[in-house]
Amino acid sequence: MSDKKRVSRRQFLNYTLTGVGGFMAAGMLAPMVRFAIDPVLQKQEGGTMHSVISVDEITNEPQRVEWTVDQVDAWYESQVQKTAWVYNDENGDILALSPICTHLGCTVDWASNDQYPDQFYCPCHGGRYTKDGVNVKGTPPTAPLPVYEHEVKEGMLYLGDSKSRKGA
Ligand code: FES
Repeated sequence: MSDKKRVSRRQFLNYTLTGVGGFMAAGMLAPMVRFAIDPVLQKQEGGTMHSVISVDEITNEPQRVEWTVDQVDAWYESQVQKTAWVYNDENGDILALSPICTHLGCTVDWASNDQYPDQFYCPCHGGRYTKDGVNVKGTPPTAPLPVYEHEVKEGMLYLGDSKSRKGA
């Protein structure tokens, strides 16, 4: 007598239908799962540098430069305007400061307040920063303005992400 188990017609149908049903379910679910986790699978664009100004145009006085970046937020793609205050410091090094106030996120301006002509001034709550972006003690901001990563290539200034600095 043979040891082989015989498969009944009912079992064969059960196995077949379970296999085909599972295959079809996987075929329907796979795109849904892929769509749900798609942002996680995307490569982050961090570290991209953007050409913003010719180094010949950079002076000792902070000047505002603007550029746009493509931003992907989950499934939403948009273009975002970026701004920096750029100047050559006393050593001739380029400094690119974020204009975002570290108090509550308003936009700071250079020398916009007649009382503080050599400082960045935030109109929202009177926050002030020295020329190198360090917050003035006794004003609302508790940290310096963030600094953009930068590099110079073929006579152009490229800016990357801005980095926070420790509070003064
Ligand atoms: S947001 Fe700039 S001082 Fe408050």
